[in-house]
Parts: sequence; structure tokens; C-alpha cells
Amino acid sequence: MKTTPTNRIEISFAALDASREATTVLLAGKDMALSEVGRAMDEKSDGLIVASATAADFTGKAKSFLDILAPRGLDEKRVIVCGIGANKEVSENDWINLGGTIMSQLLSRKIPTASIVCEPPLDGADVSTAFVAGTALGAQLRHYKFGKYKTKESDTDEADAKQDGVTKLVFHCADPEAASKAFIDGRAIANGVHLARDLVNEPANSLGPVELADAAKSLEEFGMNVDILVPDELTKLGMGALLGVAQGSERPARVAVMRWQGADDAGAPPVAFVGKGVVFDTGGISIKGAQGMEDMKGDMGGAATVVGLMRTLAERKAKVNAVGLIGCVENMPSHNAQRPGDVVTSMSGQTIEVINTDAEGRLVLADVVWYAQERFKPKFVIDLATLTGAIMVALGKEYAGLYASDDALSEQILEASKTTGEKVWRMPLDKAYDKLIDSKFADMKNIGGRWGGACTAAQFIKRFVKDDTPWVHIDLAGTAMDSGRNDINQSWGSGWGVRLLNQVVVDHYEAS
Ligand code: BES
Ligand code: MN
Ligand code: ZN
Repeated sequence: MKTTPTNRIEISFAALDASREATTVLLAGKDMALSEVGRAMDEKSDGLIVASATAADFTGKAKSFLDILAPRGLDEKRVIVCGIGANKEVSENDWINLGGTIMSQLLSRKIPTASIVCEPPLDGADVSTAFVAGTALGAQLRHYKFGKYKTKESDTDEADAKQDGVTKLVFHCADPEAASKAFIDGRAIANGVHLARDLVNEPANSLGPVELADAAKSLEEFGMNVDILVPDELTKLGMGALLGVAQGSERPARVAVMRWQGADDAGAPPVAFVGKGVVFDTGGISIKGAQGMEDMKGDMGGAATVVGLMRTLAERKAKVNAVGLIGCVENMPSHNAQRPGDVVTSMSGQTIEVINTDAEGRLVLADVVWYAQERFKPKFVIDLATLTGAIMVALGKEYAGLYASDDALSEQILEASKTTGEKVWRMPLDKAYDKLIDSKFADMKNIGGRWGGACTAAQFIKRFVKDDTPWVHIDLAGTAMDSGRNDINQSWGSGWGVRLLNQVVVDHYEAS
């Protein structure tokens, strides 16, 4: 599977007085407050910028834009004034969103290269390096299309077009060297998010379990160690739950194990991320309805986030030991498929009665989560899965659901979520939910009753978590795909969670 090279864009940083591209973006605050460069440009054009704003009733309100074409006296062909509103307390995430909005304006005007003047529009305010790098990150995140299967350029919405227009952006700022350094991490983050989006958008005929594992393997390019476990090895390990799901498909299962050794202490226990990688979920013998089934190509969204995250960690050379494990299978009905009523034995030794073959994600996670603990004795396990429709009934497409056996780890994620804007809501675990998955014939069954489906699913995975392993489960069925389009994403596959978990690592698990 090839990823989409069209999403590459050249981002660089230059001094405020360096010469600018043919299109220049200027920031304007409330009441059309301009920066020093902006004021100088206005003067040079004999007041054209302010006069245009007055004529257009443009006041610099946030998210408003004003185009000035062929401004007399300036070298530019076009100046775009971008309103950012009052200079209130703004978070780094606001800058990221600003960068996304600017990119969307450039894309819709089909402008190939532009200069962005990152200078405070209001007197005296200091624009930090974080602001400049954040704006660049937002622009890069928004600059994404999945156009590889389009043979013709179409004028539909941005995310559907074949090709990107923008190829080069120059950010003019007070300290270009510092911004450029800060953006090394930003570039790694954007690349991880884009990779996750690519994997989710890719159709299942070209992305099977083997190809998904290969995508993990290709991270060796960044100095990651990747082993791929094939069915013989999975059988030897006793992964009967995962193999039961895979057995209905022609395409064999894989488990990819990515290891990043970035900590000074090579022997320090790693943090572990586990992803559900169901490349397509038909439901199996408990087959789904036709309506919307095509979306089930995105049922490897958890795995995509883990692969994207691992790429980001490796590319920015994070000072952490981290492992990423993905269980790659296809859930198909066939004469070989597992049946409702089958009993499988998981790697942990616990037996599972498969009541519904469509509750397959938890079966995959049961074995991979167990394996992660046995092999790595990790500091924590965070699993990510497009696990239940029920989580969307509860939270819609706005929040991902978080279940935690450990309050501290849960808090770290909720905190990071405020920084990155990827929203999570803590949901309850409870013995009473756990009781609902007791089985008549085996140690447990794979579904509970009609109610609380996301909770019983989480409770099921918890049965495969050792008492001393801090564990969090994130159900991203609502957010990994077809979720609310926003300033930094217009794509169906969102890459949700890459930035969030990277932030958790930055905040708590990296020696600086
Ligand atoms: N992959 C689905 C969950 C899902 C649904 C993700 C829609 C994204 C969008 C999962 O494997 C599934 O089928 N869950 C069932 C569980 C049920 C059989 C207990 C569900 O949620 O309906
Ligand atoms: Mn399913
Ligand atoms: Zn599924």
C-alpha cells in the first residue's frame, strides 16, 4: 500500500524583514489592529490595506478574511488579511486551529505558495515560538487529501479533490531558527496523523491484515524495531481468541509489534499501546446489515492511531521506551468462520463463549493486550479500538469514551486532551457490568445484555488486564472516522488520538 506523497508541503521559517512570496497572509486583531510589518505594508501601499478593510467592513473578527488583489506599491500579487479577534488568553491549540483555517483559505483559492507574517497584531504582545510552530502544525495538519483513487480533478469539497494546491509556506517570524527547531516535532506529529488518516481511508481490498502489518513494518525506516507474528506463531502462543476471528477470512492474521527504544535507560519498562486492527468487519456469521457497512473498512482505526503514534515518537526521537502492538484480522463469514456458540481459549488461558461474532474486536484485544503484558511488563497499557456502536449512542462523534483501571493515567489523558483538543469522556467500570458477561458454558461470553454495550465491552477487555498493570481503554468508534470535520481535518479518516497520546508521552514519560 502506498501512502499519499501529495500531502507533502515545504514549510520553512524566515525573518520578518525577509522578502515574501507573491501571496502574503497578514494577521489583524480587533478593530483592524495590524502588526508592524502590516503597518509598514499599509504605508507602502498608501493606506490601501486599511482603506480596503474599511470599504469591506472588515474589522479583524476571528475567522474573517479579506483579499486585497494587486495592491499598488507592494511586491505582492495578493494580500490576505486574516482576522484573529481580540488578543485574549489563547492556548496553543488555538494557534493550531488558526494555521488550519489559513490553510483552508489558501486551498480554496488554489494558491500554491504563500508567506505568513507571524507577528503580533497588537502592540507589545510577544509572539512565542510555540505560536509560530503551532500555526505551522495546524497548516500542515489541514493540508491533507486522500486523492490516490481519483483519476480526475473535481471541484467538490477540499478533502475529495485529487491533488493539493499548496506546496510551499514560509512563516515570517521574530526567531526563525527557534521556530524551525520547534517545528521538527510538529512535522513528526503531522506525519503521524497523516499516516493514521491514510490507513483509515484506505479500502479493505488493498489494505488487508498483511498490508496493515507491513505498514507497521515500514516504520523500521525511522529506527523502530518491528516483528511480525504470523499464524503459526500466533497458534503457538495460544491466541485462540484472535485466531477465531481471523479464521473466516482467506487473508491470514498478523500481529505487528513495534518497539521504540528512546530512553537513556534501555532496560526501562516501556509504555504500551495496543490497537484493534480489524481491516474489515462484516460482523462474520452474525452478519451486519448492508446500510453503511462500507464504513467498516475503518474498523482498524485503533491500529492506525497506534501506527501513526509510533511513527511520530520515532521520527521526533522521543526519549521514551514505547511499544505498539496491533492485532490485524479480517472478520468474514465463510464456511470456515467461527459460529455463535463456539468456545475459544485465549492466550491467558481463559475461555470465551462467542455469542455474537460481530463482537470481534474485544476477542482480538484480549490476546494482544495479554501478550503485551507477558512480553514487556509495561508501565501501562492503553488500548485503542473502534469497539462499539454503543459508545456513539452515548457520546456521539464528539468525544471518545475512556475506561480506566488507574485514576492517575486517566487524569494524564484527560489533561493532555485539553491541550490537543481531542476530547475524551471517562466512562464507568463496575463489577455489576462485569457480571453481565459471565457465561453458562465458558469463563465468559463476548457480549452482555442489551444495555451498556460500551461498558460491558470494556469490562470484557479488563478481564485480560493483570491487577498490577495500569490500564486505559479508549473506544474511538465515533471519532476515528466520519467524525466532525474541523479546522485541522476535513478527511473521513481523522487520525484521532495520535496527538493526544503523543502529548501524554511528552508531558509524563519523557526525560527532557
Ligand atoms: N466495529 C464494530 C463497532 C463499530 C460500529 C465501529 C460502528 C464503528 C462504527 C464492532 O465490532 C461491533 O460490531 N460491535 C457491535 C457489538 C455488539 C454485537 C455487541 C455493536 O456495537 O453493534
Ligand atoms: Mn463487529
Ligand atoms: Zn469491529
